Amino acid sequence: MSLAQKIAIVTGGARGIGRATAAELARAGCDVAFCDIAASAPETVKEIESAGSRALYLTADTGERAQMEAMFDEVVSRWGRLDILVNNAAINIRKPLLELEVDDVAAVWKTTLWGVFHCSQLAARQMVNQGAGGAIVMISSIHAARGFPGSTAYNGAKAAVNQMAATWASELAAHRIRVNSIEPGWTDTPGERKFFTEEYIREQGRLLPLGRLAKPEEIAAAVKFLVSDEAAYITGSVLRVDGGLMLPR
Ligand SMILES: NC(=O)c1ccc[n+]([C@@H]2O[C@H](COP(=O)([O-])OP(=O)(O)OC[C@H]3O[C@@H](n4cnc5c(N)ncnc54)[C@H](O)[C@@H]3O)[C@@H](O)[C@H]2O)c1
Repeated sequence: MSLAQKIAIVTGGARGIGRATAAELARAGCDVAFCDIAASAPETVKEIESAGSRALYLTADTGERAQMEAMFDEVVSRWGRLDILVNNAAINIRKPLLELEVDDVAAVWKTTLWGVFHCSQLAARQMVNQGAGGAIVMISSIHAARGFPGSTAYNGAKAAVNQMAATWASELAAHRIRVNSIEPGWTDTPGERKFFTEEYIREQGRLLPLGRLAKPEEIAAAVKFLVSDEAAYITGSVLRVDGGLMLPR
């Protein structure tokens, strides 16, 4: 898929990897609609528009089916079609199993698992109706492959996201809709800065094989690749972008 004038939806685009992805796709020529639970997202809108692309921001929660239906309807009624979905929105509640509440798990799964299901199903239905293929990318995590402690619900959701992506890649291949996952490693975003200090991030980053955390733009570059024509023969894959974090040491 050449990206010029393609229509993309990015979830959780107000900041972090979602914001970098929205901007990267805009620079590649896509018009970008994005949602977030934030009241507004002026920085992302500015970045999209300064790339010469159209931006549409909707305050909407990916875990709420009706809000996602309204978002997809709005994008298609304004711009006529949908070519790309990037499932980026996710949350984590970090607690050990022994302290975890059922409500914590439900809250994490609502966004990190159900949100991906809602958006992917709505996107797939739209793309199948259009009959011209499409690309869906999951921003998964290395947590899909390794059970880092303190992240029960998040780890389980990300593993499920990878497996749903593989399932949908099989089901949708006949429609030329490609579905792939990206597993970022530790990435320097506002979400991570909530948990860790600058000093801790610098010190721990030095211990990684490539000596630092990922930048959001480095994950966005992988998204751009996977939705582009350069990746036309790639579906059902998992692309790890982790600076070697998962390598044996
Ligand atoms: N930062 C990392 O180290 C890292 C590593 C691996 C994977 N990831 C994944 O990358 C993605 C982005 O992470 P990030 O670090 O940029 O996060 P972040 O917390 O900095 O940004 C996430 C954005 O999603 C929005 N959001 C949260 N819940 C939402 C919902 N229900 N509906 C709509 N928007 C919602 C937030 O408001 C925020 O703007 C997530 O899927 C995350 O799991 C991040």
